[in-house]
Amino acid sequence: MSQVHLIDHPLVQHKLTLMRKKEASTNSFRRLLGELASLMAYEVTRDMAMQEVEIETPLEKTTGKVIDGKKLVFVSILRAGTGILDGMLSVVPGARVGHIGLYRDPKTLTAVEYYFKMPQDMHERDVVVVDPMLATGNSAIAAVERLKELQPKSIKFVCLLTCPEGIEAMQRAHPDVPLYTAAIDRQLNEHGYILPGLGDAGDRIFGTK
Ligand code: URA
Repeated sequence: MSQVHLIDHPLVQHKLTLMRKKEASTNSFRRLLGELASLMAYEVTRDMAMQEVEIETPLEKTTGKVIDGKKLVFVSILRAGTGILDGMLSVVPGARVGHIGLYRDPKTLTAVEYYFKMPQDMHERDVVVVDPMLATGNSAIAAVERLKELQPKSIKFVCLLTCPEGIEAMQRAHPDVPLYTAAIDRQLNEHGYILPGLGDAGDRIFGTK
């Protein structure tokens, strides 16, 4: 069973509540998502491998810790994942970025892939997949399945919001992938939207409808 990390830091919860409000403007929704994403990046990178290196301060030689291994990869599930990406990169600016284009078939709610572009040497990298909403889980499951073909060192999944249905689906398909979320909402509606949720994350980030 994959671990579910609920990020209940007061700053995260405060920003999430402001984002849920239907009157939040595109501008403030996007800004809050960016701020929230950088706080979540802090949690999701907490257990990154470190190595000790020798350095010299202006006064003497010493050792210090730096992050070990090849650069982390953030994989954004298009298009809403883009809204999380900038906030994450503000905390981990050297990270590599991959993109997966998936759309939800409105009738079947299944994920259909239309784009896939990853950095090289994925088998030597840790991967953090980002998508604001883990709803039915179909996109997340398809994205992780596709990434596993490249055999990365590890895969984590970060979202803003999820629900019991999304967690269950993801845990069934990928029990080895830890989930990081700021909230677990009540349920999905018949259109695959999270309740109470925050609406369509992509539309709210980009001001579309
Ligand atoms: N995608 C969204 O943008 N919102 C939901 O509530 C579910 C999926």
